[in-house]
Amino acid sequence: MREITLNTPGDFTEWRTAARALLAASVPPQEVLWRHAGESGSLFADSAVLQPQRTVTLPRELVTIADRVICHRDASVPSRLYRVVWRALEDRRLLERRTDPDVDWLARMDKAIRRDLHKMHAFVRFRRLGDGQQGPESFVAWFEPEHRILRLAAPFFRKRFYGMDWAILTPDARAIWHGEELAFGPGGTRDEVPDSDVVEDQWRTYYGAIFNPARVKIAAMRAEMPKKYWHNLPEAQDIAPLLASAEARVERMRETAVSLANPRSDKWRARPGEHAAEPDTEIGSLDDLTRALKGCTRCPLHCHATQAVPGEGRAEARIMLVGEQPGDREDLEGRPFCGPAGQLLDEALAEAGLDRATLYVTNAVKHFKFEPRGKRRLHQNPNTGEIDICRWWLDQERALVRPDVIVSLGGSALRGLTGKTASIASMRGQAHALEGGTRLVATVHPSFLLRLPDRDRAAAERRAFVSDLARAKALAEGLLTGTRNPGADLA
Ligand code: URA
Repeated sequence: MREITLNTPGDFTEWRTAARALLAASVPPQEVLWRHAGESGSLFADSAVLQPQRTVTLPRELVTIADRVICHRDASVPSRLYRVVWRALEDRRLLERRTDPDVDWLARMDKAIRRDLHKMHAFVRFRRLGDGQQGPESFVAWFEPEHRILRLAAPFFRKRFYGMDWAILTPDARAIWHGEELAFGPGGTRDEVPDSDVVEDQWRTYYGAIFNPARVKIAAMRAEMPKKYWHNLPEAQDIAPLLASAEARVERMRETAVSLANPRSDKWRARPGEHAAEPDTEIGSLDDLTRALKGCTRCPLHCHATQAVPGEGRAEARIMLVGEQPGDREDLEGRPFCGPAGQLLDEALAEAGLDRATLYVTNAVKHFKFEPRGKRRLHQNPNTGEIDICRWWLDQERALVRPDVIVSLGGSALRGLTGKTASIASMRGQAHALEGGTRLVATVHPSFLLRLPDRDRAAAERRAFVSDLARAKALAEGLLTGTRNPGADLA
């Protein structure tokens, strides 16, 4: 009898090295005793060096599955897996024989691992460590997977949270990411991870926002989010109150039916006197505006968004940029253009010689409009009615900042600024006069540039975008020195 001791349960490399040597030496499964370090061994184990007698190649699919299944906690896995690979050497089509007991066993084990992975991807919650003042912010999470899947799960988190330092602790092992190489270390304990932090509020706000009461199926929800994970989930404490208020929220959704709104419909078009009342407090400053905007219920978009996102920047900015509406990231952070479109915008501004800190940046619509799709929130364009209703806020911002030049980023911004639907192409390349003498430079939205698949076209469009921004800069500087560019007036 051969005895194989595995030092690290769930370590595929260790198991594979042993299994390869055994296969190459033609040692049949019934002659191998697999044990984990610490378990008592056999006194009669054969310790002679294995002599390779053949070369071993296994079907790639089987290797991929074995890599996962070795993480299963069932103690019989190393030996049963060896039996499967032993048989697969003789029978290359073994995996196709679904009713074979070994193949059926393999599929069940694999399913359990994949399910556990899915849960881990969904339910890991990071807590912030320290205040992030020194060095990059770091985060830590505690998770108790059913199986030893940390090695399989960690690359998902590396991809998703590439830019931050984090560690995930489980009872078996820990994964650590500092931006270079994923490292693994010994298991941890729950008390190494703080109980709560500021990020918690963001999770709860986000969960509250994506919670769709009309789609609640409690049994399915419990199956998807089993109670054993709830203690790690900041949002879990909100589940009961959200469920309790679900019926009333469904009723409210029925009344407002925002995600069903036909983008071409006039349903929400502003009609005099039809709006929610303007805020009671007088808006004399951008701070007043930010406060008042928090309570905005002028259109149904507020029911689903996390928060209204006000503009940001210098109150005396000479140039104002107007985008469409906050995206997913902006909705959570409460700041305009802080997501991927914002990154591109910042780069283009720098290329045009503009410093964002000197500008005022806002959106035509202040609440994020989206369609829930699984766990994701898919951006939806605001319709003209929503843009027109939100124009009231944009007008307040314009009156407070009184910029010399406004750059409209995309069609919704153009609508929000002019009250008319016009094509960007027809407005581009020259400055237009808005009421009050402000000049308007119309250009595309940065998201448009992000979506272009053709590299040459994307590069050309980006150059045109930068040159529109540079035109706004030149215009603002010209106005400053009194050399006005008359442009073409907007009716
Ligand atoms: N797109 C916008 O139009 N505005 C934002 O703030 C972010 C993305």
